[in-house]
Amino acid sequence: MTSRGFFVVLEGPEGSGKSTMLGPLAECMRSSRVDPVVVREPGGTRAAEIARQALLDPEHPVGPVAELFFYLAARADLVQNIIAPALAAGRVVLSDRFALSTEAYQMAGRGLDPVMVRTANQAATLGLRPDLTLILNLAPELGQARQIAAGKRQDRLERESLDFHRRVLEYYLAAQGSGVRHLDARLPPDQLLHAAWAEVRRAAPETFPGAIG
Ligand SMILES: Nc1ncnc2c1ncn2[C@@H]1O[C@H](COP(=O)(O)OP(=O)(O)O)[C@@H](O)[C@H]1O
Ligand SMILES: [Mg+2]
Repeated sequence: MTSRGFFVVLEGPEGSGKSTMLGPLAECMRSSRVDPVVVREPGGTRAAEIARQALLDPEHPVGPVAELFFYLAARADLVQNIIAPALAAGRVVLSDRFALSTEAYQMAGRGLDPVMVRTANQAATLGLRPDLTLILNLAPELGQARQIAAGKRQDRLERESLDFHRRVLEYYLAAQGSGVRHLDARLPPDQLLHAAWAEVRRAAPETFPGAIG
């Protein structure tokens, strides 16, 4: 799939600061006169929000394969209805999680067959790849401590074992490829945002002109 816009994805384990950064990073973009389309996975369309509820409810757990396909159904619907049209219209899209999360959680975390996960994931994204993936790396112990400190009610995935979350982090740490950048999520929020914004401007200097401090 070809696109004219610019697709930025925030990735990383639980508590690494993705949702905290989403609004402020969008604000940085607006300060550069770019109004991004902001989405979070799973969600963003009616069908995807239904999938989200099915996935994250600790009272009604789904098995690993059903989990995979709920995530992918949510992604396919979001890509088709929101992300792909926005990019085709030349917009910047900023997403809290995307396809790499499925590799980290369902493949590395759950242990599902890599070929099956990659093939299904590719179908769900309609072949769309982020232009920039910012991975916020954080040890699971620290992420969990942040969530507890914030009094957050943990969802089904967040309650998984420490070993599960270690496999997720290992996968993120090893992730490479075009447009993949790693950030140290132990940084305080303002410094982490500063680093992320610098990466965005470096990756899309024509969209976000100006000196990178
Ligand atoms: N850079 C940071 N340093 C310290 N605490 C943070 C940082 N970013 C977020 N937090 C706090 O950690 C918790 C989890 O952050 P959140 O953005 O929800 O993580 P995620 O969306 O990656 O799971 C929140 O209570 C948030 O206030
Ligand atoms: Mg979040």
